[in-house]
Amino acid sequence: MSFASPVKAALGRIAFVTGAGQGIGRAIACRLARDGYDISIADIPPAKARVDDVIKEIESYGRKAISVYAGTYRPLACESSDMRDAKQIYAALDETVDKLGPRLFVSVANAGVTQVKPLLECTPEFIENEVRLNVLGLMNTYIAAAKQMVKQGFGGRVIGAGSIASYRTAANLAPYGATKFAVRGFTEAAAKEWAQYGIRVNAYGPGIVDTPMWDHIDAELAKIEGISQGEAKAKRVKNDILLGRIQEPEDVAKLVSFLASEEAEYITGQTIKTCGGASL
Ligand SMILES: NC(=O)c1ccc[n+]([C@@H]2O[C@H](COP(=O)([O-])OP(=O)(O)OC[C@H]3O[C@@H](n4cnc5c(N)ncnc54)[C@H](O)[C@@H]3O)[C@@H](O)[C@H]2O)c1
Repeated sequence: MSFASPVKAALGRIAFVTGAGQGIGRAIACRLARDGYDISIADIPPAKARVDDVIKEIESYGRKAISVYAGTYRPLACESSDMRDAKQIYAALDETVDKLGPRLFVSVANAGVTQVKPLLECTPEFIENEVRLNVLGLMNTYIAAAKQMVKQGFGGRVIGAGSIASYRTAANLAPYGATKFAVRGFTEAAAKEWAQYGIRVNAYGPGIVDTPMWDHIDAELAKIEGISQGEAKAKRVKNDILLGRIQEPEDVAKLVSFLASEEAEYITGQTIKTCGGASL
């Protein structure tokens, strides 16, 4: 039994984080940098200015940071499919290792999209858009990262974005909930296969986090429920969150930091809720 310092353990290692230009991904990238990791960020081209800003913050902690542009941009509201191209995920990881060295230790498949519509209004394209990023993108990111970790031979941490929706779906967010159930299943199965390589696989399951994603959900729910903007979120925060405040992206980053650290050495295959009691 050891009580390793997370900072010392992380020094000289790389964390790859997708969708780190804003919201939860940004908080995770900055937190892992503060834990001692050098950071590689994969986000879409329109996020470039925001990613540059994250890189500056990480460099201010004395760590290296680079951006690699995975994904082809489609506006989130666009009903044509948002292609998460597996080739680009592999290219992003190759670029990460080329630029920072073969010392990838943490991969966080954070990028995700949510759309809000009653099921009877969901077109095949609408559903495909979410599945491509939240499920296929995450699966391919897990596998591409694990292949690199196996090649390096010193284990690693594969982490993904689940949700409380991995356990309990919500009306008007049905395809999203189904993608997050899939994250939970895939995380469990990957953990079974990769324990032999010293790779632990876990997902984080946030509740209502104060990010642009929830601003979008709020605006769409407000239209469906005939209430004003801000009300859908405020109502759910008040009724559902036992700890009495909305979740900050940093609350999620703390869990990811823990899962990446030696403190979580006996945890794998889990989707861990961090939601202020909202799922109870
Ligand atoms: N916000 C919440 O309340 C909440 C709750 C549970 C789970 N989550 C999950 O956490 C993750 C992050 O959520 P968030 O609220 O920070 O989202 P967000 O929409 O605020 O940020 C998403 C980030 O992903 C990037 N992105 C979008 N499409 C991409 C693509 N094709 N390739 C690469 N990057 C892409 C965006 O540019 C952005 O930087 C998502 O998987 C989400 O489903 C969020």
